[in-house]
Amino acid sequence: MYLKDFLLTLRQEYKQVQLIREIWMNKAYKERRMTSQIILSCHSIEKGLSLKKPRPGFGKQKIDKILSLIEEYQRCGYDMNHISIKMAFSVLKEYMAYQQGVGEIDTFQKSEIKKIIPQEYLNNSVKTGGTQQIKKKDITQIDKKEFERLITTRYSVRNFIDEEISLDDIKEAVKFALQAPSACNRQPSRVYVIDKSQRDIISQYLNGVGGFEDSAQKYLIITSDISAYPLSEKNQWIVSTGIFVGFLSLALHACGLGACILQRELYTTKENQSIAKYFNIPKEEQIICVICIGKYPETFNVPISIRYDVEDIVKVVK
Ligand SMILES: Cc1cc2nc3c(=O)[nH]c(=O)nc-3n(C[C@H](O)[C@H](O)[C@H](O)COP(=O)(O)O)c2cc1C
Repeated sequence: MYLKDFLLTLRQEYKQVQLIREIWMNKAYKERRMTSQIILSCHSIEKGLSLKKPRPGFGKQKIDKILSLIEEYQRCGYDMNHISIKMAFSVLKEYMAYQQGVGEIDTFQKSEIKKIIPQEYLNNSVKTGGTQQIKKKDITQIDKKEFERLITTRYSVRNFIDEEISLDDIKEAVKFALQAPSACNRQPSRVYVIDKSQRDIISQYLNGVGGFEDSAQKYLIITSDISAYPLSEKNQWIVSTGIFVGFLSLALHACGLGACILQRELYTTKENQSIAKYFNIPKEEQIICVICIGKYPETFNVPISIRYDVEDIVKVVK
């Protein structure tokens, strides 16, 4: 049994690595790869600019990289309205202003930046990246009691009423969940909304993990975009999407929707491949989990799901 599991894991790992390799080599994924690279490089400049004392002259090589990525992206005829490009224009503008202010601007770089960014960014009417100033008084007035109520009244719900959920409610929750942090702001999470009319298909896929999925009104297939991560960051997309799913569970509850996360195998199993194909989920997205959602009944039971004591979790390392 041990050998069988070992060989299976080895095979799945191999397939996973092959898939990542394909995504990183294949031209079909180039646009997605490039947007992630642009976000990654821009975010590194944003981080530098957010420091208490940014280092004068920092980031010259990164800026060259951003400029050449945008040039190539444009040459390839890709979508210049993508958020990565919008982010880049603002980052370049703020970087140029900062370096100019500290007398460290590279004149060649300055002219390249001015050539590439649109006028509305140069005249400050648009800001879609860079840094923003936060006032402590604006972020410390949180009602802890309300937060406690939200977090302690979220349960995994396995019993829903037969009432339609609007797409707007789901979108509202997803909008909240988009505030979740993600590694270098690459935001790999995607949400596929499946209606209960597709219940037969999804139930087959969820077979054995829930047993209550027939009561759900909608199913959210949560995926993560692998193309945002190189092989050296393998599986990091699961961390960022895991955090997103945590935020989304709370957001759904805040929007009046009950939810239960259902775990599926993370690897490219036959079941994962066939459900992805059926719902047109692209190859470069890995299914992370499914969330069953629906409206709350007047009363319902949930497991107590006792939590560990804080003392069992927090270890002070001396
Ligand atoms: C990643 C993940 C996978 C889960 N998978 C399942 C599942 O397959 N079936 C199920 O009934 N509940 C599943 N759950 C719900 C957990 O059982 C539940 O979150 C846990 O018992 C704590 O209870 P609570 O969510 O009501 O606080 C999952 C939760 C998470 C976070």
